[in-house]
Amino acid sequence: MRVEPITRLVGHIAVPGDKSISHRSVLLGALCDGETRVTGFGRSADTEATIEAVRALGITVYEHDHDTLRIFGKGLHGLTAPGRPIDCANAGTLVRLLAGILAGQQGQQFELTGDASLSVRPMARVTEPLGRMGAGVETDDGHLPMGIEGRPLRSITYELPVASAQVKSAILLAGLYAKGETTVVEPAPTRDHTELMLEAAGVSITRREKSVTVQPAERLELGEIEVPGDFSSAAPFIVAATLVPGSELHIHGVNLNPRRTGLLTILERMGARVTVYNRRRIGGERAGDLEVRSAELVATTVLAPEVPLAIDELPLFALAASCAHGNSRLRGAEELRAKESDRVEATVDALRALGQHVLATEDGFRIRGVPTRPRGGRIESRGDHRIAMLGAVAALFSQQGVEIEGAECVAVSFPGFFELLKQLEETSERQVH
Ligand code: S3P
Repeated sequence: MRVEPITRLVGHIAVPGDKSISHRSVLLGALCDGETRVTGFGRSADTEATIEAVRALGITVYEHDHDTLRIFGKGLHGLTAPGRPIDCANAGTLVRLLAGILAGQQGQQFELTGDASLSVRPMARVTEPLGRMGAGVETDDGHLPMGIEGRPLRSITYELPVASAQVKSAILLAGLYAKGETTVVEPAPTRDHTELMLEAAGVSITRREKSVTVQPAERLELGEIEVPGDFSSAAPFIVAATLVPGSELHIHGVNLNPRRTGLLTILERMGARVTVYNRRRIGGERAGDLEVRSAELVATTVLAPEVPLAIDELPLFALAASCAHGNSRLRGAEELRAKESDRVEATVDALRALGQHVLATEDGFRIRGVPTRPRGGRIESRGDHRIAMLGAVAALFSQQGVEIEGAECVAVSFPGFFELLKQLEETSERQVH
């Protein structure tokens, strides 16, 4: 895939439904008593794997149109083991959250597998606390395949060694099945979509600044869920419109959960001009419309507490910082090395290939900002959707355009990414002439 530089980005767009919330809507919908109707579902390879997973567990899911689902839940104890492995494909959120749910399905045995990337990602972070709760869980030295035997669970108070919403969610979901209350203590706040959706389903959740407690549940009921647009899918367009001079881009209906919008805080500190308007609630989550105008950026430092709030956007931060005045740093982001690729190395390789000055450190990046257009060139996605989109954003602001090897992996989170980009190019061109 080749992406050419753009004169400016002008227009109105919307992005697909939030991936994290879409996964959770299907998983919790499967555990509800009766029907859950999901609108604005963010269809992608990852979330389709979740639909297939719950189908394998005996749940009926009707796909009404592209983004409307009807899920016929069978209650907290209604899943049935398929007698064959459940393929979680590339989806870390699916495998980890599902592990928490399956741990509570007493007397049943399950096996979870994934693709090559998911199979090298760390799983002990979920099997360790689930084992403490009494589940029978086994991995291949901390990696998939994961065997799970549902057993009676006991409640625990668990201090997360790493700030991870996936691990927190796995424990909270297992906590629905435990005897007594289950508490998760977080080193730093992470996305809270699981807590919000469980509350909406009628579960008793107590939230404190650094911890969350769930009570065991008897039944869940969601009814309707509307999924807001994915901030992580809006982020490439936010950075592109910030970098490309003369841009004025509106992105509508975006999830603005404060535990997801760390990139906005960081970019605003760097001088970006993003205005939020039409603030509202979509599906129990904060949401709004964004207006992004281009701006000159200055360097900043991002430290550990900000990392979970911008975790999937840190490659884009590196690009923005490499085009800013001054030297930037990212620290406390070791977790980036455990994503769909080692995103510290993948980001550094990609940006350096385009002429940018970025160095990898153990826990992040050192970035020398040069406030001009990147040269451009060729990058390798490493099968990581966020890196492919990083290449596309860099291309729009580059001198020579960018060739993206392995660009098709954008389908993991945003199958229509390149089509939307093309449409935006066309509308922006029309505005110029
Ligand atoms: C997610 C949590 C984050 C994030 C991932 C989605 C979720 O992962 O990177 O893309 O939906 O809970 P970690 O919990 O591993 O940080």
